[in-house]
Amino acid sequence: MISWNHKHILDLATFSLEDYSAVLELAKRFKAIPKTGARKLPALQGHSIATLFFEPSTRTRSSFEIAARSLSADVMSFSPSNSSLKKGETPLDTAMTYVAMGADVLVVRHSSTNVPEQLAQSLDEIGQQTAVLNGGDGLHSHPSQGLLDLFTLANHFKPDNPTPAALQGKKIVIVGDILHSRVARSNLWALTGCGAEVVLCGPPSLLPEEFSDFVNAPPPRQKFDPIEKRGRVTIMRSLKEAFKGADAVMTLRLQQERMYENLLTDLNRYHLEYGLTHEKLQWCAKNVPVLHPGPANRGVEISSKLLDDRKLCLVNQQVQNGIPIRMALLYLLSATEC
Ligand code: CP
Repeated sequence: MISWNHKHILDLATFSLEDYSAVLELAKRFKAIPKTGARKLPALQGHSIATLFFEPSTRTRSSFEIAARSLSADVMSFSPSNSSLKKGETPLDTAMTYVAMGADVLVVRHSSTNVPEQLAQSLDEIGQQTAVLNGGDGLHSHPSQGLLDLFTLANHFKPDNPTPAALQGKKIVIVGDILHSRVARSNLWALTGCGAEVVLCGPPSLLPEEFSDFVNAPPPRQKFDPIEKRGRVTIMRSLKEAFKGADAVMTLRLQQERMYENLLTDLNRYHLEYGLTHEKLQWCAKNVPVLHPGPANRGVEISSKLLDDRKLCLVNQQVQNGIPIRMALLYLLSATEC
């Protein structure tokens, strides 16, 4: 029996160990469904999922839509460039229009932090049952990415039993533009919540010292941390030092506009210091896996050769695991009573 008490999924700071276990257990079951024969489960027949992506996406949006259809839900898709946003409609009114058309879950991505949270509050205030699932908001949070990364790592460390316990005591190094990354923030909550030690590595302009305290207290509007004992977060500036004893390495997309904000002086220099290559991976133990949430800048945060090295780089597994993880999240929000 899986227990679940979240009406919305906005941020992994609210997740307990039981929540991580529930999501990973369901994802494991959905992943095990054979890819041949009847590929749809009837679990969400009669449910409608709207994917409201106000900011571009390839992976997240497509995999939520595949996940919804795999559970027999109806999918309402939305394209901002062809929508009434062009006539001045607000994102909130757009979302409410999909609620009026019968959406049970809204998957929302927006470039502004807290749009999914504001929408969830508005729905709660009017007593609407529709759930909001954050598909990535500003710099704040990308919970389904944090969970699929967790699932990918758990499968890597314990293929037969990919539970949160697979992360206990593991050293995971996250490299790059942490400051502007909602993926890094969601991974920090998820990985430390499951007992991993996280080492953050990057230049001070993209990784301020304050990040070592990131998970020490819950976000301002949250009363308590549901995790009793989190793994530690440390900051290192030298990739060589950070890689000592690493069990896995994750790199993040370097948003090239940061150079024009004077946070970086030279992309080539960044690649030399922090770009992942086979040569730099020799500072880790043999066969340490590399993750990247995508989309990637080849030759900047990761070399083309390493990105295409399917033995070391788990990027395709991350994309594939996105589907069972998002099936699990849609199932938990639609088919369980909160
Ligand atoms: N990782 C991620 O969020 O990718 P998309 O922007 O393609 O959805």
